[in-house]
Amino acid sequence: MVKMETAELETDLSLFKYDNLEQLPSRYRELEETDRTERIDAALEALGDDVVILGHNYQRREIVDHADFVGDSYQLSKEAAAADAEYVIFGGVTFMAESADIITDDDQTVILPSMEASCPMAGMAEALQVDSAWAEITAAAPDANIIPITYMNSYADLKAFCASQGGLVCTSSNAHKAFEYAFETGDKVLFLPDKHLGENTAHRLGMENDIAEWDPWDPEGKDAADVAESDIILWDGYCQVHERFRVEHIDQVRDANPDAKVVVHPECRREVVEAADKAGSTATICETIANADPGDTWAIGTEIHLTNHLQRWHPEVNVLPLCGDACMDCNAMRQIDPNYLTWVLEELVAGRERNVIEVAPEEKELAEVALDRMLEI
Ligand code: 13P
Ligand code: SF4
Repeated sequence: MVKMETAELETDLSLFKYDNLEQLPSRYRELEETDRTERIDAALEALGDDVVILGHNYQRREIVDHADFVGDSYQLSKEAAAADAEYVIFGGVTFMAESADIITDDDQTVILPSMEASCPMAGMAEALQVDSAWAEITAAAPDANIIPITYMNSYADLKAFCASQGGLVCTSSNAHKAFEYAFETGDKVLFLPDKHLGENTAHRLGMENDIAEWDPWDPEGKDAADVAESDIILWDGYCQVHERFRVEHIDQVRDANPDAKVVVHPECRREVVEAADKAGSTATICETIANADPGDTWAIGTEIHLTNHLQRWHPEVNVLPLCGDACMDCNAMRQIDPNYLTWVLEELVAGRERNVIEVAPEEKELAEVALDRMLEI
């Protein structure tokens, strides 16, 4: 492969976490699907083993169709750790690409095709904000050993903060194990940023009566002395895609299809998870449909792209979106447009790296400790 040169920086994106990320050139904006697919295939052929594409289950059809591995956050972090390609192209959102950069070797480069793929939930727990909450809560419980756990859906600086306080990262597939680890090493948990995953995990462990919430935006919603009495303190973050699902949607599906079963993501509200037949990570949702009998009906409570993929991948199963047309796509995941994929790949063929995600070295080392703890549990 041709020798790489560092791309000229063209965009000043002061609002975005990474200031080296660039907008799609106009000549890539109107590509037709057939032409684009041929160009992506040609670029992949030219790049060979130098590139691996990882695609989250919520990615658009054209991204998952080109991905070498498709999976949930946990599976993708394992694939990133195992990858030996020089370039890891991440079909996902910023926090996932950051984690891939942390986990991969220093001579590997992680590329996030679009700069705008930022998960709003990850932005709900800023490391500085958490640091000040931490000072208040730990001062209110001076004898307690509080372990901070951050969901994968968080930025590297927060992962680093958790590691520095003896904590770790988890995904929706291993949150219960992360809690168990925390209660073996400490006596309280501060869980960030998704309160619903935290609450659902507390229920799974039979600790539903030990929960307090910390609302960092509401001066009335945080009383350190009060929350420090509980064993599980939940940061008040949420995912708008999953908060949309209600128990009424489950009732409506069951009224219309008495044999239907319901599977939801644990980012859904507690009462929705309770009412569903099953809850689990996007990988669990995929397995549930893959293992269903032909003719079974399953309603899915998660991001709509995954529901559409499952309809395509398993036409023998009757797969329904849990709230019909009201099911949302994830605005952050949607930013990984196949035009961007074409652009970053063709730029690599031309010897230029675009939209490289590079976590600051001082955060990287500690964030890796938090991710390694997760991979070990
Ligand atoms: P999974 O870890 O289940 O893939 O979920 C990631 C996510 O962002 C869900 O909203
Ligand atoms: Fe973030 Fe929700 Fe999108 Fe997942 S679905 S990436 S939590 S906004």
